[in-house]
Amino acid sequence: MPPRSAAGALTVPASAAPVFAPGRAAAEEVPRPVPGIVKPLPAEWFVPHDTNAEMRWDALRDADGKAVIGRHVPTERFFVRNHTGTPLIDPDRWRLRLFGSGLRGAPTAGRAVEFGLEDLRALPSTRIDALIECAGNGRSYYRSQQHQSVPGTPWRLGGIGSASWRGVRLAELLRAAGLTDDAVDLLPVGLDPDYVVGGENYGPVRRPLPVAKALDDVLLAYEMNDEPLTPDHGAPARLVVPGWVGIASIKWVGSIEVADHPLQSPWNTDFYRMFGPDYPPGGGAPLSTQLVKSAFELAVGAVLAAGREHRLHGRSWSGAAPVDRVEVSTDGGRTWRPAELCEEPRADNWTRWSVDWRPERPGPYELRARATDRLGGGQPERAPFNREGYLFGAVVAHPVTVV
Ligand code: MTE
Repeated sequence: MPPRSAAGALTVPASAAPVFAPGRAAAEEVPRPVPGIVKPLPAEWFVPHDTNAEMRWDALRDADGKAVIGRHVPTERFFVRNHTGTPLIDPDRWRLRLFGSGLRGAPTAGRAVEFGLEDLRALPSTRIDALIECAGNGRSYYRSQQHQSVPGTPWRLGGIGSASWRGVRLAELLRAAGLTDDAVDLLPVGLDPDYVVGGENYGPVRRPLPVAKALDDVLLAYEMNDEPLTPDHGAPARLVVPGWVGIASIKWVGSIEVADHPLQSPWNTDFYRMFGPDYPPGGGAPLSTQLVKSAFELAVGAVLAAGREHRLHGRSWSGAAPVDRVEVSTDGGRTWRPAELCEEPRADNWTRWSVDWRPERPGPYELRARATDRLGGGQPERAPFNREGYLFGAVVAHPVTVV
């Protein structure tokens, strides 16, 4: 087991980076139910799941139904997905090392091209909006809606967050490091402790990323919501891979191999691809673009008054394209009506919407929301089964009670 700091986070080996104090007395403030996460996790904001913390959708509104969160989720309320635990890394001693056959002169790991945080800050910076969404977001609905048993973190829909990110375009960094035309794949490696499960050590979290995507829109971010990255979200630097499954956005990145041939790691061979009867024996292609999804900004099992007009709020998003339209059903999916979009949909973010509802009769109800994106991607009634429960893109039934 790797060593733990007083704050409960995991520390990285001294060879990678020394420990620093995160500057918050987090440990005393709130008992943390999740080992390895540094920030406080108040129960009104988060649902803990083993090493992870899910955002509660009802926390986007206050008790009077007023919005408390705009387009971006504040960093302290952003969900956390850790395979092991948050490492505390000294930003002054941190170095990002690039090496491999896809760089000029093919530097080896021992003679890597190195960048410190100040070097990154000296390069032209860019600010983007992007969602980070776990590939397992919505997994619990395989069981609760489709009666299919899948292992892994039982996320509802809160394995997602939207933030603004500042950093260096990976394209810029790769050019500065001497990218060649022969480069095919990158392998960013996290500085968090090795992932050990079922008695097997899979090594540090790392997942190949095609050079084409890296050059298109990937950011090496050092700021989140206009502040330096915090430990739980990848400080001092992380990848932000827009529209793709969250695992692509490697946190605490310490090195990037750049290769002139395809690369592999357990994160694109064993994990994060579709396995099961409907997929080839070795699994489907490594997961990339996220699906269309929708969620209500409302507690599961919320109680609403009969005979009164309620404004239901929610958000829809797609990894592929801006949202085109959203429909809502308040009668378990029998009838649907369009929701009103509250903003011009964008490819890089979710779209907020609302719909008015006046339930006359008390009783249990099931709300549903479904979106279609501008490429025609939508939300089916059932998600195709896969053994690990990834990419649940079906319509989610949201129970409420009218009294
Ligand atoms: N990077 C490292 N090094 N270790 C991890 O465990 N988890 C990934 C990704 N990057 C992970 C990682 C997954 S699965 C997701 S969904 C996102 O980080 C979550 O980012 P967040 O914790 O900032 O919300």
